[in-house]
Amino acid sequence: MLDDFFQPPLHFKVAEPWMWETPVSPAEETLVERAVDKRKREFRAGRNAAHSLFNQLGINHPHLLKATQREPAWPAGWVGSISHTQGICVVVLASTCHAASVGLDVEQATPLNPDLRDMICRPEELAQISRLRAEHGAALAYEKLIFSAKESVHKAYFPLNHHTLDFLDARIDLEWSSQSFVASILNPEPAPKHPVARFEGRFLFHQDWIFTLIVNTAPKSPG
Ligand SMILES: CC(C)(COP(=O)(O)OP(=O)(O)OC[C@H]1O[C@@H](n2cnc3c(N)ncnc32)[C@H](O)[C@@H]1OP(=O)(O)O)[C@@H](O)C(=O)NCCC(=O)NCCS
Repeated sequence: MLDDFFQPPLHFKVAEPWMWETPVSPAEETLVERAVDKRKREFRAGRNAAHSLFNQLGINHPHLLKATQREPAWPAGWVGSISHTQGICVVVLASTCHAASVGLDVEQATPLNPDLRDMICRPEELAQISRLRAEHGAALAYEKLIFSAKESVHKAYFPLNHHTLDFLDARIDLEWSSQSFVASILNPEPAPKHPVARFEGRFLFHQDWIFTLIVNTAPKSPG
């Protein structure tokens, strides 16, 4: 199932149990030295999984540190994304020949906290969700899917522009039959370095989780 979702030219790795427990390089460990155990475990899972991919691909990048904020400083020639939630951590990697940025998010497939609904979802998205509930059943966590898609937007957008969009700055249009979505950036910052009007993404409900993925294939504008 995940092999179909993360198709070549993407490379992906689901963290193995030992990866959550095993410390990474001293330089990487410094990034979480004051963190609580849960944060150390998820960080190690992501880093160990990333290093497993680097080894597999012959990439020499001994320390996967942070770039400007929390986004990983990927090796030259590669872009990627990390997501962890209870029970799973996934890393995805793509060559810059194939993608300018990648956004991956994995969430528990449980209902979004109703108090957050109007902070996350635009009215058009709520209307869309009402239609989907009628057509495909009430049980699925549609609002959480919108949330996850927007987290993927952030992870694909931020490394290009170093700007954090608000959840209401983007609109997700779901295409249920193809398990895909379009994310329209409605309110970008005034002078983005790499303007983005829309991203195309895919989603998957698998086991306990919702996966959303954006592979931004638009050429990166110079500068
Ligand atoms: C940063 C954020 C996306 C993390 O999401 P999360 O669901 O809590 O956690 P995940 O496990 O899925 O993702 C965490 C990973 O994302 C990556 N990440 C963090 N900040 C990032 C950024 N600015 N850009 C790209 N990737 C980032 C990191 O690899 C991080 O893991 P690590 O610290 O162990 O390396 C989220 O906390 C956040 O700040 N969201 C607000 C911004 C937003 O989503 N706006 C909506 C735009 S439409």
